[in-house]
Amino acid sequence: MEVMRLRISLSKTATAAVEADALVVGVFKEGLEESAAEVDGALGGWLKRLADHGEIKGESNETVIYHGEGRIGARLVVLVGLGAREDVNLERLREAAATGARAARDKGARRVAFPLIRTVGGEDTGKAGIAQATVEGAVLGLYRFEEFKSKPEEKRVEELLILTPDEGMAQHVERGRILAEATCRARDLANQPGNRLPPRLLGDAASAMGAAVGLEVRVYDERWMEKEGMGALLGVARGSAEPPRFIVMRYSSGRSDAPLLALVGKGLTFDSGGISIKPAQGMEEMKMDKAGGAAVVGAMEAIARLRPPIDVLGIVPASENLPGGRAQKPGDVVKAGNGKTIEVINTDAEGRLILADAVVYAAREGARWIIDIATLTGAVIIALGHEAAAVLGNDDDLVEELRTAGREVGERYWPLPTYEEFKEQYKSQIADIKNVGGRAAGTITAGMIIGEFVGDTLWAHLDIAGMAWDEKDRPYKPKGATGFGVRTLVRLAERLAAGTSS
Ligand code: BES
Ligand code: ZN
Ligand code: ZN
Repeated sequence: MEVMRLRISLSKTATAAVEADALVVGVFKEGLEESAAEVDGALGGWLKRLADHGEIKGESNETVIYHGEGRIGARLVVLVGLGAREDVNLERLREAAATGARAARDKGARRVAFPLIRTVGGEDTGKAGIAQATVEGAVLGLYRFEEFKSKPEEKRVEELLILTPDEGMAQHVERGRILAEATCRARDLANQPGNRLPPRLLGDAASAMGAAVGLEVRVYDERWMEKEGMGALLGVARGSAEPPRFIVMRYSSGRSDAPLLALVGKGLTFDSGGISIKPAQGMEEMKMDKAGGAAVVGAMEAIARLRPPIDVLGIVPASENLPGGRAQKPGDVVKAGNGKTIEVINTDAEGRLILADAVVYAAREGARWIIDIATLTGAVIIALGHEAAAVLGNDDDLVEELRTAGREVGERYWPLPTYEEFKEQYKSQIADIKNVGGRAAGTITAGMIIGEFVGDTLWAHLDIAGMAWDEKDRPYKPKGATGFGVRTLVRLAERLAAGTSS
């Protein structure tokens, strides 16, 4: 499993002169973007005429292809709609870069050039943000999961050329590449079928990633889990012949007073529901139940490469949830690492069980903050569909930090309340708590059950069940695993680092 690597380089060549298979330029509703106008001089005004004749109206993500006709260095020009000038923001730009890159690929382009647009309307983000977003959009948009195709697609982009006179943009281009590649890593892991990535191999993948970027990665087995008293994780794993793994990735910043952030991702490599088995219809999609864990692996990769001044612990409890002969049963009681007992009412509510043991571990390691990220409930899809993830936690400031980090990278998190009264719903007759709180407020009680295991640590929970997987093709999120959360988690680490350094 190797993340697709595109060559990405910077060039000072003038837009009209650059030699490429395709040149991607923008058009606003109001008319050509500055780089487009620049090449249009050499093209005798044809781009403007296309716009004037309504062949392209400048709506977001429209495209029209024009030929260079030997008058410019590029063989093709891809005109991409950007929307109204004042509405263009970095998210629109990511989308436009993705749309342009994909249109160029459809035409067989291998080397694609992107002059950077000059300004973004609504936001004063400056050139750095533009360079980064352009690269992110193009790389994420070109992603394909084709490991199991015996004939890979012939049309493939091999090189992106970022056109800018400013050498200072190199670091922002690099940042965009690191974040996009880490997101593609998470997509690759979440897209893997269950038989190809059981917990053992997810552990191997995390180790390989760690070796590549210089992160310490430890992968623990069942004997270790027994010593740690991780009865909740072990209970879930019982129904499968595939052994569980507990993956710990450690990034040390070297800053002497660095606080510790723990990122904990649900690594359920296949969720059949266990004895409380799911319906057959759509069950294949539950290979994506490791998307939270995948997001943590991706985020750790980017963090190791970007080196923010904060220590970060990445934790992925990994298991299958199957109804084997030794499987845990409804009514069983398990004990988590902190000694709390849980009555397992529904074996399909397994995410909170494996995460309970993982957050106990994170708290013991001395984390100042714990963020867990999980495809936890179907209920969150009922609440927010596929347009936002849910966030809740025990600290409003941390929830706000996450929402801000998300806003900065183009990922939405909507807050849910954690009223004391909800606790009534998961009280157990015979154990400390039960693992389900009924249908009402299902996303909230699921998250709050995890919160029962963090002690006093500042904690937030992200339910990404509606965001981790998309049946719809979106500009920079091709169908399937989206890698949602990776860029937010990295941004959060950076924000917490900045907020705590003197
Ligand atoms: N992995 C599922 C949640 C899920 C649903 C993820 C749809 C992605 C798409 C989780 O383990 C689960 O089965 N949750 C149950 C909880 C219920 C039994 C209380 C659910 O949401 O139905
Ligand atoms: Zn489940
Ligand atoms: Zn699950």
